[in-house]
Amino acid sequence: MARRPLIAGNWKMNGLLSSVRALARAVASPMREGVQRPADVLVCPVSVHIPAVAEVLEGSGVKLGGQDCHAAQSGAHTGDVAAVMLADLGCSHVIVGHSERRTDHRETSAQVRAKAEAALAAGLVPIVCVGETEAQRDAGQADAVVTGQVRDSLPAAGEVVIAYEPVWAIGTGKTATPDDVAAMHATIRTELGNVRGEAFGAATLILYGGSVKPDNAPGLLALEDVDGALVGGASLKADDFWAIIEACPR
Ligand code: PGA
Repeated sequence: MARRPLIAGNWKMNGLLSSVRALARAVASPMREGVQRPADVLVCPVSVHIPAVAEVLEGSGVKLGGQDCHAAQSGAHTGDVAAVMLADLGCSHVIVGHSERRTDHRETSAQVRAKAEAALAAGLVPIVCVGETEAQRDAGQADAVVTGQVRDSLPAAGEVVIAYEPVWAIGTGKTATPDDVAAMHATIRTELGNVRGEAFGAATLILYGGSVKPDNAPGLLALEDVDGALVGGASLKADDFWAIIEACPR
């Protein structure tokens, strides 16, 4: 079965209610006009903005996701958000294991897997992020680091999306070359097959993330094993985000 591309906007910790509502309206408006888009479209606002964004997106077909969730369903976890709470607000996806979480909050792959499992239990599709640092790439360890993260972060069953985001490419304006991206995505797909069987590997979406912009998106999204993008900075401008959506091969 063909993998339908997914373009996901990771809005990170940006915007206030009015600007986030305006951004959501601008992202949704081409969909409301019935524009045929070549990919599923997802936006991931900060959790406190999700109800407001859900209201704006209602009926547009733009999907909604969280940026992180806790591994537990409820309890004494001050400041955290449970996957079931995101599902309850209308989310279909949640990002887990973003490198900013792995770095800022020292999240391990075992914790990321527990979060992904909580997401699945809540009916969400986890977007599991993996990626090497610049030092690891320079030391020739990129493949080992990324396949290790895939293996250790992957839940035992259930649908997931993988996002390959080289840490050194996030928010820096540097992107991996199409050859490097193609090679890493093929490596990840093989690893998914090794862990969960070939059919799972073949069916799983693998997104690329890290300074995806309208100008580099066509080259990246045309690659065989690149099934979409996780977009940070460029997802905060609806025109740029739409240019990336439109760059998906039809
Ligand atoms: P960027 O962020 O597009 O701003 O590099 C991507 C991400 O962190 O998901």
